[in-house]
Parts: sequence; C-alpha cells; structure tokens
Amino acid sequence: MQVNEHIARMPAAYLFSDIARRVGEYEAKHPGERLIRMGIGDVTRPLAPSVARAFASAAAGMAEPEGFFGYAPDSGYPFLIEAIIKNDYEARGVSLSPDEVFISDGAKSDTGALQELFAADARIAVTDPVYPVYVDSNAMAGRLGEYRDGKWSRLVTLPCTHGNGFVPQLPEGGADVLYLCCPNNPTGTVLSHAQLKKIVDWAREREVLIIFDAAYKAFIADPALPRSIYEVEGAKETAVECCSFSKTAGFTGVRCAYTVIPRQLSGKLPGGGTASLNALWRRRQGSRFNGVSYPVQRAAQAVYTPEGQRENREIIDYYRENARILLDALRGAGREPVGGLHAPYIWMKTPEGMSGWAFFDYLLSRAQVVGTPGEGFGECGAGCFRLTAFGSRENTTEAAGRVRDALMGL
Ligand code: MLT
Repeated sequence: MQVNEHIARMPAAYLFSDIARRVGEYEAKHPGERLIRMGIGDVTRPLAPSVARAFASAAAGMAEPEGFFGYAPDSGYPFLIEAIIKNDYEARGVSLSPDEVFISDGAKSDTGALQELFAADARIAVTDPVYPVYVDSNAMAGRLGEYRDGKWSRLVTLPCTHGNGFVPQLPEGGADVLYLCCPNNPTGTVLSHAQLKKIVDWAREREVLIIFDAAYKAFIADPALPRSIYEVEGAKETAVECCSFSKTAGFTGVRCAYTVIPRQLSGKLPGGGTASLNALWRRRQGSRFNGVSYPVQRAAQAVYTPEGQRENREIIDYYRENARILLDALRGAGREPVGGLHAPYIWMKTPEGMSGWAFFDYLLSRAQVVGTPGEGFGECGAGCFRLTAFGSRENTTEAAGRVRDALMGL
C-alpha cells in the first residue's frame, strides 16, 4: 500500500500540536512553574446554564423510549436549522431555506472538508496570516504543489499586514477558491460592509468561490459591521459560510457547527455544464457524516432562547473585558496591538525585531505565558504574535501583568 505522499510531505506538525509539544517539554524541565496558556483559542467559561440544562435533559431523555434518538439526520434536526435561520439570518435581513443549512461537528471539520468539492487542480487563495486548516487540508489533497522555502508553489496568498490595515489585497490573476475568516483568526481584525462588498464583487466577476468562516461573529461589537457575508448583496452567488457554536457558546468540547450553502451556488463540470455545490455537499455528507448527536443539537438550540442569548452575551462580554485588559497592558508597555475589539484575538508586532518563535520562547521562559507565534499562520505572520482573550479573568489579569513586565524588561 502506498501512502498519501502529500500528507507525508507536509512541512511540520499542526501548529497547535507543535506548541503543545514545546510547552510540554518546557513543563517537564520546569516543574512547579505556573504556566498561563494563551496560545490556542480554547474557551474556559462553562456552558451557559440554560444550555447545559437543555443538554442534560435531552441526554437523560435518551434513557427513555420516547426520548431516545438513533442516527440524526445527516444535515441536522429541523428544530436547530430553524433556530439558526431565524436568529442568525432573518434577524439580519437574510432569508435562507432549511435545505441550505447543514449542521456539523465543527467549523474546523467543515472548512477542512469542503475542499473535497473542488477539482484536484483548483487554485486556492488564502489571506496571509491564515488559520492553518484551510492550507493544510488543501495541501493534503495535493492541490498546493511543492513546499519550498516556507511556501507552497501553487498557493495564492493575499497579504494582510499592519501596512495595508489587514484588508486583503485581491490578486489580479484570480483563483478558484478564496478562504476568508472574518472576524479574523489570527489578527482579530474585521472587515466592513464596503470592504466585504469589494471582495464579493471581485469573486463574482471572476467566478471565485468564497469560503467565509464566521466562527467569531458573536464578538462583533459594532452592529453596523456585517456578521454574515450574505448581508452583502450578491454573496449568495459566490459564498459558502461556516459558523460554529465553539466560540459563540463555549462548545469547543461539545462540538456543534453549521455550514450554509445557498442553492444558487454552482461550480463548473469538466466537460461543460455546472453542478450545484449544495447538492454535492449533501451527497458528500450522506456518505461521510452521520450527524451530530440529539442532545448536542438540543443544547445548540437552547443557545437561541432568550435566556440562552442573555447568558451567552454575558460570557462574550467577559472575554471582551479580558481583551481590554490585555490591550491596556500591551499599550502600557509601548506596543500597538490590533484586534480584541470585535474578536477574541490580539495581534501585535514582536519587540526588538524578534521572530515570533523567539518571542514565544522569551515569554515562556521569562513570564511563563504561552502565546502563538505569527509564523505559525503564514509568511506575513513573521515577527508577529497572537494572544487569546479566552482565559479566566484571574489568569488573563495575571498574564497581562507578566507580559507587560516582560516587555518592559527588554
Ligand atoms: C485557534 O486557536 O486558532 C483556534 O482555537 C483553533 C480552532 O478553532 O480550531
């Protein structure tokens, strides 16, 4: 049996696995030190009480004949799909039909798997820095060419830097697919309606499919900013949208997400003609996915009750306040961080021209704080660093002080 050479030739471990390994090694050498983890964006607040109650009640019901459910529908239970459409879309002027929404176990799974719908030689574009899953999943499928000097030969990258205000520069040559994460992971920046409109118009003109990852939309504080790409006219003809309950409702361990594929979205067939992406994804899910468990979908539905909304809003506000504490500390140390206002991530240039990895090592040994080096997100992340606001208040306050002192000590 021959293995998939594309996976075998992948450059390094998955970013967050690599960080976990390095931190594990550090801990083994420094027992007794209290590390504060602000690397991976994992939530720390418990589930909203009303959500946990719905989860527990549905799980308990599984022990009774009338509350027992076997295989869930591949694309999700209608009660959850309806709640998503009503609250996340209709409330913002976007109409969707139930067969355009697919429930899944995560935006990571969906943004990673959607590439199965693309031709083997589809040209992929990503913003740089980028959430590594978009790149890795296409690299594993052999679509990105050779990896040389830290770059994939067939990957189109759209730099998003301090220099251009983190607004992607659209490539003249186009691409077949563009992945876009907004609010952005890792930079924590967000695009306005006008900026998104330019991207949508560009994609429609060139027949580029946008994979829009809105996993962090609950953090958008300004009601004028779009939370869905479908708030932009014409986007249904060009974009798939992925969203997750992980960051909006603390489901990183529970697992529930959804992907929207409008019916009018289509792609070209090799011999001429077109195919509906919605139909292709339904076909794919039918063979590859057995749905999300009933108790989890009932828990996700409870996120949309008035009580669930209020409780989750408090949790998001808690993380927002963490972000403010981190931003203040960094500014107090003379840095100019971005993000943190409409996203749980804070992005900054490293001090003294250090590489992101050098600053990672410095913060780990000097302050026992774990962050994420910008290099892990792409070439344009070099010399940058990411902190998350998902910690507990106690840890965030402690880490903010330690990071400030470490910066002042340079
Ligand atoms: C991150 O830290 O970038 C995220 O937690 C990763 C993810 O959501 O998979």
